[in-house]
Amino acid sequence: MQWTWNRGLILVVVAVTWTGAVRAQEQEAEVDNCRVCHSVLDDERLGGPARAFTGDIHAARGLGCADCHGGDRTLAGFEGMDPAKGFVGRPGKLQVATFCGRCHSDAAFMRQFNPSLRVDQVAEYSTSVHGRRLAELGDTAVAVCTSCHPAHAIKPPSDAASSVHPLNVAETCGACHADAEHMAGYQIPTNQLERYRRSVHWAMMTDGGDLSAPTCNDCHGNHGAAPPGFSWVGNVCGQCHSVIADHFAQSRHAKTFALLGNPGCATCHGNHEILRARPELLGLGEGAVCGQCHVAQDAGGTTATTMRGRLDSLRAAYGGADSLLLRAEHAGMEVSQARFELQGALNALVQARAAVHTFNPARVAAYVDEGLDVTAAAHQKGVEALGDLRFRRTGLGVSVTIILALIVGLVIKIRQAER
Ligand code: HEC
Ligand code: HEC
Ligand code: HEC
Ligand code: HEC
Ligand code: HEC
Ligand code: HEC
Ligand code: HEC
Ligand code: HEC
Ligand code: HEC
Repeated sequence: MQWTWNRGLILVVVAVTWTGAVRAQEQEAEVDNCRVCHSVLDDERLGGPARAFTGDIHAARGLGCADCHGGDRTLAGFEGMDPAKGFVGRPGKLQVATFCGRCHSDAAFMRQFNPSLRVDQVAEYSTSVHGRRLAELGDTAVAVCTSCHPAHAIKPPSDAASSVHPLNVAETCGACHADAEHMAGYQIPTNQLERYRRSVHWAMMTDGGDLSAPTCNDCHGNHGAAPPGFSWVGNVCGQCHSVIADHFAQSRHAKTFALLGNPGCATCHGNHEILRARPELLGLGEGAVCGQCHVAQDAGGTTATTMRGRLDSLRAAYGGADSLLLRAEHAGMEVSQARFELQGALNALVQARAAVHTFNPARVAAYVDEGLDVTAAAHQKGVEALGDLRFRRTGLGVSVTIILALIVGLVIKIRQAER
């Protein structure tokens, strides 16, 4: 029994040592000569790729130079870079999509690494303005895969250092779209990056830390980057602003704007420099959007003024109730419940502002009235709290006077007794 145990142990030890040796041998055979040689080349064009490659997702998944460039990595000399061994060298801009697509369009191959990864990048890209101009016009100023994913430092979008991480996308697109020289031959503006950086969306993403706010690719698509068609623009905004988009879709404007070729939401809010919606946006005054197309005499104009008036009345009522409750609170009165209830008016205001997009004053009025009921109740509680305070103060005044009078009386009494 003892003997068999020992023999078994020895066998296991031998087996482990042997497989270890084989592994080491295999690793030796797997030395990536492409990487070894290129890493020590001083010329940045030749050595740079190998040095950058350490942080690349392909390196992290065990892929090497030859998996993209072809050739034989087991050979230590230049003969590894023999076209006869499948070596491709540096792909030109026209070849890059097929170069990357060899793997990324191959569902069976990609599944071995990451089954959830999409395999339609090349297909999508070929429908984009970028892909079409490249294929149809040979326009090499457009973006190819490696314009957005730097060839030897490719990282997944979730990596903060990735060129396609949400916080870095704008810069990546801006490298061309904000470069007037690069875009000189085209009839499109180069202010998208600059304007986007002034938008509420960018502020939300950076200061607000909300990575779900949109950047370039959320509106334009990652690989199908195309100028959104007019009907599509509304859909893009509606992905996130769904209540407002539903209101708008049912409104008279939706159809009319489509007929007139106005770009849906962007007609009033712009596309890149979308700002917080201020009250002044509604109505016919300065900074209002309705005045672009309506005058005081038409139905649109009167609706604009009516809705603005209603919203203003709720905002004013909310402001009044809020400051009353604050005053009571600062004076030490217990009004936290009333302040909590007042939040209901803010919710009503949000819904009323969204309902502006129905362009139906009755819909706006319904929410405003709801909000006004809440503010009235809160206001009443504020008035009562301050009334209580006044009562307490008067009471306090009276008792203080009485106490003072008593003290004075007492002092007089003591003096009299002393005398
Ligand atoms: C012994 C060193 C060495 C090895 C091994 C080596 N290379 Fe090179 N490689 C070079 C040098 C030097 C050049 C520049 C050749 C030239 O400019 O003609 C080069 C050029 C290249 C280029 C640029 C070609 C172009 O069109 O500009 C690529 C891509 C490349 N190598 C990839 C590889 C791959 C992939 C492997 C492995 C299969 C590999 N190299 C193996 C030294 C090496
Ligand atoms: C994911 C695919 C991929 C891998 C892996 C890869 N390359 Fe490249 N490489 C490219 C592409 C694509 C280009 C063309 C340049 C571009 O489009 O920016 C390129 C260009 C080059 C060039 C020419 C650079 C120039 O500016 O002319 C060299 C040299 C090179 N690669 C070497 C390597 C070496 C060495 C490795 C391994 C350390 C490697 N590559 C791994 C895709 C890859
Ligand atoms: C030899 C096959 C192959 C080639 C060629 C190739 N890739 Fe990859 N790529 C992969 C594999 C495998 C992964 C890892 C997928 C994973 O595990 O998530 C990957 C990952 C990626 C990722 C990160 C995906 C993610 O979200 O995880 C990007 C981006 C990418 N590749 C872009 C490119 C580009 C651009 C090119 C062309 C320059 C290219 N690839 C060429 C095989 C390849
Ligand atoms: C105009 C810029 C641009 C071009 C060109 C581009 N990509 Fe991308 N790519 C992106 C962005 C942005 C993301 C990030 C998507 C996200 O946040 O989910 C991305 C993501 C990816 C991913 C991760 C998986 C996915 O689909 O989200 C892969 C793989 C990829 N790209 C491969 C490619 C290949 C291959 C090409 C060339 C056919 C290419 N890309 C061309 C911008 C680009
Ligand atoms: C390598 C440079 C380059 C990069 C990087 C780049 N683009 Fe482009 N893009 C172009 C060029 C050039 C055109 C063609 C302009 C034209 O036809 O008017 C274009 C066209 C477009 C168009 C169509 C414009 C129109 O109305 O004709 C859109 C939309 C677009 N790009 C969005 C993007 C987005 C989004 C990104 C980043 C995810 C991006 N681009 C990255 C160069 C680039
Ligand atoms: C909130 C959505 C949104 C975001 C974010 C966004 N765009 Fe746009 N972009 C649009 C819309 C909508 C249009 C179409 C305008 C029209 O048709 O009137 C457009 C048009 C364009 C055009 C065509 C030329 C032009 O200026 O009209 C380019 C190029 C472009 N965008 C690039 C970018 C780049 C680069 C970024 C990031 C810095 C970006 N966009 C961010 C929605 C967006
Ligand atoms: C005809 C002009 C017009 C159009 C078209 C329009 N809006 Fe508005 N939008 C306004 C006005 C005016 C306000 C300001 C209401 C207020 O606060 O008094 C506003 C406010 C907003 C707000 C802020 C309100 C809130 O609840 O946060 C958002 C978000 C918004 N719009 C998104 C959209 C979206 C998405 C679309 C397209 C589906 C769209 N808008 C179409 C005029 C328009
Ligand atoms: C990917 C999601 C997403 C897309 C797409 C999107 N937005 Fe936004 N938007 C947000 C977020 C998140 C905020 C910040 C919310 C907040 O602070 O109330 C915001 C804020 C706004 C605001 C300011 C709201 C306010 O309270 O004043 C307006 C106006 C707006 N977006 C309009 C648009 C328009 C128009 C489009 C399409 C061209 C669009 N958005 C596309 C997510 C999106
Ligand atoms: C880009 C031009 C444009 C802008 C901006 C615009 N409208 Fe209109 N609006 C129209 C047109 C055109 C019609 C006529 C639609 C029809 O008769 O089918 C219309 C119709 C209306 C109607 C219906 C009138 C009726 O006869 O029943 C109302 C209400 C209205 N708009 C309100 C507004 C308000 C409020 C704003 C600002 C938030 C606004 N509009 C901004 C173009 C515009």
